[in-house]
Amino acid sequence: MVDIHFHLLPGLDDGPETLDLALEMLEMAVGEGTTHIVATPHANARYPFLPDVVAERLAEMRQHAGDRVKIVSGCDFHLSFENLQDLRSHRDRYTIDGKGYLLVEFADYSIPPAIEQTFHELQLAGITPIVTHPERNRLLCQHTDWLDKWASHGCPLQITAGSLLGRFGEKAREIAERWLSADRIHILASDAHNVTSRPPGLRDVYQRVVELRGEETARALCIENPLAAIEGRPLPWMPEPDAAIAAAPARRKRFWFF
Ligand SMILES: [Fe+2]
Repeated sequence: MVDIHFHLLPGLDDGPETLDLALEMLEMAVGEGTTHIVATPHANARYPFLPDVVAERLAEMRQHAGDRVKIVSGCDFHLSFENLQDLRSHRDRYTIDGKGYLLVEFADYSIPPAIEQTFHELQLAGITPIVTHPERNRLLCQHTDWLDKWASHGCPLQITAGSLLGRFGEKAREIAERWLSADRIHILASDAHNVTSRPPGLRDVYQRVVELRGEETARALCIENPLAAIEGRPLPWMPEPDAAIAAAPARRKRFWFF
């Protein structure tokens, strides 16, 4: 399994507070069959991204991991003005293993009105945004046509494994299942923060996808697509979503971007 969204590095954000907790998470991931981890500390107003400290902790975790699991750098990147400014001059600092894919998280209450322009500019600069956990974002759930448009322009959607397993409530589970049926999901990741409420590991979600959609889809979402993101290759599995299945049963219109 290849896990591209994982708050592994200790003492940097709302992930593990100590090295011991981080090591517990690492062991849990290895036990679940994880072969690759992207360490993705937040870069937002609450948790600033500290490149030197990140590099230091990354090296420490790699030492503990040995050759059991490959750990590469990444970031849970908030689309703020300041972050985007810094990204322009430091692409490798934030993208996955410096190879171009960028995990992008949106605020719950607003989507920047010029988001398409921003995505376009990022892509021109060789950066491919990966939209993280849209199934847990109320605005994005109401505007799935945006998600499909971004995906059709090459921006994959990453859903949290726990959503499909019901750990974020019935609504997130129902949405994740519907999107899975409609081929709207491109990558599953743990977004692990600890070993209890938000644990590492993709084994259970892999099994669930096998039950719902079969082995080929499970491999695409948990192994092949995330591995391509780590290696900076185009994702091998980006099907057109089935609009009829993907549409929410009752969509409310709302004026939402101000
Ligand atoms: Fe995250």
